[in-house]
Amino acid sequence: MFDISVVRQENKEVMYTDSMDFVKGLFYEERNALANMSNLASLLYHIMPDVNWVGFYLHTEDQLVLGPFHGKPACIRIQIGKGVCGRAAGDLETQLVKNVHEFEGHIACDGDTNSEIVIPMVKDGRLLGVFDLDSPKLKRFDDIDRKYLEEIVRLLLDGSDF
Ligand code: SME
Repeated sequence: MFDISVVRQENKEVMYTDSMDFVKGLFYEERNALANMSNLASLLYHIMPDVNWVGFYLHTEDQLVLGPFHGKPACIRIQIGKGVCGRAAGDLETQLVKNVHEFEGHIACDGDTNSEIVIPMVKDGRLLGVFDLDSPKLKRFDDIDRKYLEEIVRLLLDGSDF
C-alpha cells in the first residue's frame, strides 16, 4: 500500500516531513476511526526508529481502555489520572517522559520501555482517548516529536468520525 522505505531518516524533522503525506494518505478516503487508528499505529511503528509500542487508549466508561496498537500485548484498563496515559487524559496535556522510571506511578506494560510520550485526543471539548508511544531508549522523545505527533493527532481527529 505504502512504500515507507522512501521516508528519509537523516533527522527527525526530515522523517516527520516525509511521513506526513503517508499519514494524510491514510485518512484521504476513509473516515472510520477504528481503521484509521489501526493503520496509523502500524505506520508509525514501522517508520519511527527506536519505538517498541505505538497505540491508542480510548476513553470509555470514565476509564482508558486499550485500543488499536502495534507492539507487545499491553495493560487493558487505565484509570484517569493514573500512569502517564491517565495523566495526559486527566490534564489534557501531552506528557513527555524522558525516563519512565522517574515518573511516579508509571505503569510498566513492557519492561523494555524507558521513555514515553502521550498525546491526549480531544475533539469539540470531549476527551476521546490518548495516543501513546514508548521507546526502549532513554530521552527518545523531544519537542520535535511533540510538535509533529500533536499535528498527526489533529489530522486523525479531523479526518475520522469518532
Ligand atoms: N506506560 C503507560 C501504560 C501504557 S503502556 O505504555 C502501553 C502509562 O504509564 O500510562
